[in-house]
Amino acid sequence: MKHIIYKGNSLERIKELEDNSIHLTITSPPYFNAKDYHKEDVNIGNNINYLDYLDKIETLLKDIYIKTVEGGYICWNTSPVIDNGKRYGIPFDTHQLFIKLGFEFLEDIVRVPDNRTEKGLVAFASICSSCK
Ligand SMILES: C[S@@+](CC[C@H](N)C(=O)[O-])C[C@H]1O[C@@H](n2cnc3c(N)ncnc32)[C@H](O)[C@@H]1O
Repeated sequence: MKHIIYKGNSLERIKELEDNSIHLTITSPPYFNAKDYHKEDVNIGNNINYLDYLDKIETLLKDIYIKTVEGGYICWNTSPVIDNGKRYGIPFDTHQLFIKLGFEFLEDIVRVPDNRTEKGLVAFASICSSCK
């Protein structure tokens, strides 16, 4: 079996993959504007607003779905964040996108770090399967 690493903008590079060729996606995408990504245009972590972020995630998820084999898996690590004093429930909103696009929810994993130096970060991994 041959393994290839595609480096670059996932929103673009995923188009180079064959349809129905992904068996497993594991990713920790940017959590909205939680980090400073130095204004890189293509960075999913640079957004005008929250809906802009969700649009990018949906665009990527649509392509992931098309490229995923029937019954393939996706494991999506994310977390609620606070931006400009407002809290955003990213795991709940992205979960809606999975279901809308045709993924089936299998499992959630909630990680609460022992050492809460990351401002009480609670990470959620949502594991879904594609059904076509
Ligand atoms: C939450 S971090 C995850 C970091 C990763 N788990 C690691 O250990 O290096 C999100 C990462 O996604 C990258 N990223 C953002 N937009 C991207 C895009 N369009 N294509 C590829 N990577 C992107 C960011 O630069 C950042 O490194």
